[in-house]
Amino acid sequence: MGIAGLLAFYFSATAPTFSHDVAPLLYSRCVSCHRDGGVAPFPLVTYNAAAKRARLIATVTAKRYMPPWLPSAPRFQHEMRLTAAEIALFAAWAAAGSPEGTQRETPPPPKFPDGWPLGSPDLEAVMPTPFDIPADGPDLYQCFVIPAPAPADHWVRAIDIRPGNAKVVHHVIVFQDTARTARKRDTGAGYSCFGTPGFLPARGLGGWTPGALPFRMPDDIPSLFHGAADLVLQIHYHPTGKPETDRTRLALYFTPQPPARRLMDVPLGSNRIDVPPGAAAFTVTDHFTIPVDVDAIGVIPHAHYVCKTMYAYALLPDGTRRTLLRIPDWNFNWQRQYRYAMPIRLPEDTRIEMEFTYDNSAANPRNPNHPPERITWGPATTDEMAGLHLEVVPVRAADADELGQALWGKMMRSLGGGIYRPGR
Ligand code: HEC
Repeated sequence: MGIAGLLAFYFSATAPTFSHDVAPLLYSRCVSCHRDGGVAPFPLVTYNAAAKRARLIATVTAKRYMPPWLPSAPRFQHEMRLTAAEIALFAAWAAAGSPEGTQRETPPPPKFPDGWPLGSPDLEAVMPTPFDIPADGPDLYQCFVIPAPAPADHWVRAIDIRPGNAKVVHHVIVFQDTARTARKRDTGAGYSCFGTPGFLPARGLGGWTPGALPFRMPDDIPSLFHGAADLVLQIHYHPTGKPETDRTRLALYFTPQPPARRLMDVPLGSNRIDVPPGAAAFTVTDHFTIPVDVDAIGVIPHAHYVCKTMYAYALLPDGTRRTLLRIPDWNFNWQRQYRYAMPIRLPEDTRIEMEFTYDNSAANPRNPNHPPERITWGPATTDEMAGLHLEVVPVRAADADELGQALWGKMMRSLGGGIYRPGR
């Protein structure tokens, strides 16, 4: 036997099989979306369904296009990233001709029960009426108002969202409208709202993307649910080729325990966005120096379709640089909020920097305009935004006011500069 023969023998003897190797991986990493009624266009549950796409699976996993997970760094909770060994396994399975293995060894596919995984909620709310999504046409961004579902304030420890129709719902963001202005815009079937929900203050309460687990607050930092507030669900719908109907519901879980620590939002961003057609690397930056010791626990980035890369880092007083977020290939369709695997300690006088780049060239497949057009700041699909919210907790509770004042100062400075409006 020559070397080639030996290699062939070695690989055939150790080739991964569906039942032993591939099914467990698909079941843990893919079928939350790739199942009947899931958001993905086809299920990957049975041997036949997976085998006929073995090469495509090898390709999309090698490119890290699937499972959809945007950040390459740092480490986050509930990461949907495959390890290099898992990617190699899909490749080896396809190369070996996608062998099935021993059928009775195939583990049973996971079940996705209809109930709420966290048990019965303290408050359950639903879109007032079902919403019809046409068979085709552009994606829809629709806001639905659920008028003040609770009479009193509560501390929220978790929130869960169940789409009425998982085939069309791409993401959901829940806002509280304490001023109750959104209800005036609601025509009965909600109102169109890309980017922002269109009212202030828009207090976020949580979000959902396909495959996501219930959204839990850190144990000692529940968030405030305003009893007087209307809940507003912002939903991104992707037409499926058939007319669909959705009625999404949400579940809130309360705790009597008020927060022991204070969660604060450090917003970075800019409205100085004016990207000429064809520009392939337009850059937007912002920065803020934190005056007190904090733990960063999460990050929420936001931009639209031509944003290409997102980078945020902390420059510590001793000169160390810590990555807070790196997204090499932003995709609006998979926007979500991220919680760090471990809190990141940022000592007093740490400088936080953000840098987003935008690709308004014809080579960008996500460019909404063909040919490319000038793109400026704004809330519409064809506008752009640049926002990064760092969720921090002051290490000493007494420092919250000082941080609050510094953030206020940052906001006043950006207003003092005049809200930037590029000439049209
Ligand atoms: C969070 C939901 C989700 C998860 C998890 C997920 N997918 Fe997908 N997948 C989608 C959606 C939605 C599409 C279709 C839209 C698209 O191509 O962006 C898709 C498309 C695909 C395609 C077709 C790509 C093409 O170019 O036609 C393949 C193959 C695929 N997924 C494989 C996988 C595999 C393998 C896994 C697990 C390792 C996985 N997906 C995990 C949602 C998901």
